[in-house]
Amino acid sequence: MDGNGRWAKARGKPTIAGHRAGAETARRITERAAQLGVKYLTLYTFSSENWLRQKSWVDDLMGLIRWYLKNELKSLLKNGVRLRVIGQRDLLPPDIQTLIEQAEKQTEDNSTITVILALSYGSRQELTQAAKSIAHKIAEGTLHADDVTPEIVEQHLYTAGIPDPDLLIRTSGELRLSNYLLWQMAYTEFVFSQTLWPDFTTDEFDQALETYHRRQRRYGL
Ligand code: IPE
Ligand code: MG
Repeated sequence: MDGNGRWAKARGKPTIAGHRAGAETARRITERAAQLGVKYLTLYTFSSENWLRQKSWVDDLMGLIRWYLKNELKSLLKNGVRLRVIGQRDLLPPDIQTLIEQAEKQTEDNSTITVILALSYGSRQELTQAAKSIAHKIAEGTLHADDVTPEIVEQHLYTAGIPDPDLLIRTSGELRLSNYLLWQMAYTEFVFSQTLWPDFTTDEFDQALETYHRRQRRYGL
C-alpha cells in the first residue's frame, strides 16, 4: 500500500491524512476482494524498517492502527472477515498487541475472507526467526537436521498454514519487493500500478485481477 505520503504532500496535507485516506482504500479493496471471492488479502501495513522513520511519524501511524483495530472490528464481524497479523508483534505497543489478540480471537470463525495485516513485518526477520526456532528444535533433539524440508521451513513462518500469494499488487510506481514475503512469493505474479494507494480504485483492482487471469503460470515446468 505505497504512496500515502506522496498523496498527502501533493495536496499540501499532513502525512497522516494520506495514511487515513490509505486506510479508507484498504477498507474499499477488502470489501471488493470479499465480493469477488478472494479468500486471502495481505496488506503490507508497516514494515520492520518503518520503525527507523521519524518518531512522530511512527507514533501517528501507531495511532491510526490503534484506531483501525478498535473501530473496524464491528464491520469485520459483520462482513465475515477473519483478521490475522503477521510480523514482529513484540515490538508493537502493548495495547496494540492486546487489540490484535482480541480481534484475531473474535474473528477466528469468520470465513468469507481472511485479511492479513503485515505489521512490524520484514521477510528477512521472519526467515531468521524461523531458522532460529528450527535450530532450537534440532538442539533439543525434537527435530533432525536431515529432516528439514521446505515444508518444515514453511511451518515456522508467520504465514504457516496460509497459502502463498497468487498475485502481488504494488502501487505508486515503485518496482521492488521491500522485504515483503520473499519466501512466499517464489511463484507469485506481480502487477505494478502508478496510482498512489489512496487513489487506488476497485476498478483498478478488478483490472489487476483480469491481468492476473491472462498470465500463464508454469511454476518452472
Ligand atoms: C505507504 O506510505 C504506507 C506505509 C509505509 C505505512 P508511504 O509512507 O511509504 O508513502 P510514500 O512512499 O512516502 O508516498
Ligand atoms: Mg513508500
